[in-house]
Amino acid sequence: MRFSLPLSILCSALAVAACEKKVAGPDHDQSGGVQGDPAPGNDPPPPAPGADDTILIGEVGSLTGSEASFGISTRNGIELAVNEANLAGGVKGKKLAVRVYDDQGKPEEAANAVTRLISQDKVKVILGEVASSNSLAMAPKAQAAQVPMITPSSTNPKVTEVGDYIFRVCFIDPFQGFVMAKFARENLKLNNVAILKDNKSDYSLGLSEVFNAKFAEMGGKIVSTEAYSKGDTDFRAQLTTIKGSKPEAIYVPGYYTDVGLIARQARELGIKAPLLGGDGWESEKLFELGGSALDGSYFSNHYSADDPNPKVQKFIADYEKAYGARPDSLAALGYDAAKVAIDAMQKATDLSGPAIKEVLAKTTGFEGVAGKITLDAQRNPVKPAIVLQIADGKFKYLTTVNP
Ligand code: PHE
Repeated sequence: MRFSLPLSILCSALAVAACEKKVAGPDHDQSGGVQGDPAPGNDPPPPAPGADDTILIGEVGSLTGSEASFGISTRNGIELAVNEANLAGGVKGKKLAVRVYDDQGKPEEAANAVTRLISQDKVKVILGEVASSNSLAMAPKAQAAQVPMITPSSTNPKVTEVGDYIFRVCFIDPFQGFVMAKFARENLKLNNVAILKDNKSDYSLGLSEVFNAKFAEMGGKIVSTEAYSKGDTDFRAQLTTIKGSKPEAIYVPGYYTDVGLIARQARELGIKAPLLGGDGWESEKLFELGGSALDGSYFSNHYSADDPNPKVQKFIADYEKAYGARPDSLAALGYDAAKVAIDAMQKATDLSGPAIKEVLAKTTGFEGVAGKITLDAQRNPVKPAIVLQIADGKFKYLTTVNP
């Protein structure tokens, strides 16, 4: 599958002068659907970002690095929403443009990018990040500058706790961890589960904690807990210890690059127990990395492309046309985050941070492609989660769990 990121398009039609990092990536689909993308050298240059007739939205994402598919899918989803809004006349009579910075999946880079978006580019809202540790590095800066930030997909509760300018459009990990614990206990009827967590990831640590507590509450036993650090490639020592504790499954709340390797090494060591995980598994790359080692494993996620809702199916068709790939959860949530931001800017009395924030806080019943969004007092939506099974190199929808 292709992850297309039409860099030239980003940099031109969207008036994004700040595509600093060349995005490593294969060919891209010029049918990208960015309205009015100029043929090179022909049309007049786009208006400078921040010019009076343009509203600038900031975006921070991992367009490169070990979580690149997170940033690229999100980028595509946001771009699709912004293009739709521009085709429908923009916001308050102005066109929208996105300035996106690649943080390479690193919290320090994400923090720097937000500083630039705020002080140099003077964006009205910030969209991002995916990984909770990166969002946590960004949020205090957005909060201090009173620039509303919406993370499409960071699920760690601490992100929105930073303050009243920080929002999200996805469920949070206390729910996601509960869903998998319940699934393991009630559906799979497991008694003994091991945990393998990433000590460098707020997401992984938070989710492990919830799973541990909930699984035990439901009468299950955590037979061993091992840890690694993002960037590690050899997990054999931890897996050997885990094997000795004879688990019926291993909960691995990590990101796809690590999970793929962990699955392979587990099978090499003769571990037959399925792996269980969370949304961080979501990437087509998971199959390239993990191959058949992941068959029979399960994870919780946000959205399924099998949803028959016509709105969802239209989104899928539009996305496929533009990017030549099926949208994953990240793309769906990126699209939803941008839609919510655009809707709030439309309704706000003016485009100041405080005015946009007021409207965002009242988000109720917003029909997203990854579920309905009603924000609670902590600026978190309450949404169902789905459980997927991996079979024959595919994600298979199993069930939806309501909060
Ligand atoms: N929820 C993950 C985090 O907070 C990010 C993620 C969301 C990854 C959805 C994949 C799909 O870090």
